[in-house]
Amino acid sequence: MSTVRIGVIGAGIMGADHVNTLHCHVSGAVVTMVADIDVERAATVTAGVPGARASGDPHALIGDPEVDAVVIASHDATHAELTVAAVRAGKPVLCEKPLAPTTAECLRVVREERQTGRRLISLGFMRRFDPAYRELKEAIAAGGCGAPLLSHCVSRGVSSAPGATDELSVTGSAVHEFDTVPWLLDSPIEEASWHAARSTGTITGLRDPQLMLLRTADGALATVEVFLNAGYGYDIRCEVVGERGTLALAGPARVITDTAGARSLGHPADWRPRFADAYRLELQAWTDAIVSGGPCSLATAWDGLVASTVAEAVITSMKDGGRSVAVQVPEV
Ligand code: NAI
Repeated sequence: MSTVRIGVIGAGIMGADHVNTLHCHVSGAVVTMVADIDVERAATVTAGVPGARASGDPHALIGDPEVDAVVIASHDATHAELTVAAVRAGKPVLCEKPLAPTTAECLRVVREERQTGRRLISLGFMRRFDPAYRELKEAIAAGGCGAPLLSHCVSRGVSSAPGATDELSVTGSAVHEFDTVPWLLDSPIEEASWHAARSTGTITGLRDPQLMLLRTADGALATVEVFLNAGYGYDIRCEVVGERGTLALAGPARVITDTAGARSLGHPADWRPRFADAYRLELQAWTDAIVSGGPCSLATAWDGLVASTVAEAVITSMKDGGRSVAVQVPEV
């Protein structure tokens, strides 16, 4: 196989972005189909991709003979069902995070893949491909700052999506950190607790910001702040405190502006510019693995199950006064 014919499910913000990245920046990838329950939205996205067809039925896309591999970028609640359908069709699938909002659903997906005896599922934990995060991971492993003791992770956005809830802050946003922390520190998360400060008045009923405390198996602590309505911009931070020094992501911008008596660095409006390189590198690695039939370096369904298990422990803590909850990844 020299090119992969890709079908993308979900033509919202992320689906449209993936289609554009695949079409313009990923060699070996051809987008042949886009499906969304809102077929007009799918058609708007395919309008920019010559030869691609739009559909209102994600299952028709999965079964289509001109689709070799599937990207799932529809709402979180649809991920498990659509991923299982792609696995049953024997097609490689890149599912956006989370694999599913609950551990039980993730387990069903992992078991379904195990039955095939093949690695078909990849998870969209794209920070693993972000050049800055990769450099941070390499610097931790190089050991110049000593063994990691603490990490401080911050995810701030301009405003929450309609329908945001306390739980969605965890399963939709903090879940990135539940994959990033063990990947960076090379130790699984064993314990989690959830806390909320006085909330911003922007959205009634939503506890925002939230703070989570994670403990890894080798005894490091991680703080995770998720602040969906921070207002000022999209801002991702990570600092790792080691025994002999600290390492942190630089940013938020590559260019410094000096004007009108002040120095400033811009913030992106959302995640797309911040992680554009990560999405491109992730999609290229996925496409290359399908073309070559070689190993795939993306996060696995198991990684998705582990991250959602941490999310579930955090939500248990949320509903139980912020107590520490053990993270118990189920047997597959
Ligand atoms: P969105 O709300 O803009 O788009 C979702 C689309 O899915 C909508 O067009 C909707 O009509 C469609 N849809 C819903 N159910 C469907 C179904 N059964 N079949 C086909 N289409 C269906 O949402 P957004 O922001 O694009 O997020 C999509 C996914 O990507 C979510 O799972 C989200 O968690 C994930 N995401 C990942 C990010 C990352 O950095 N890796 C960043 C943002 C979102």
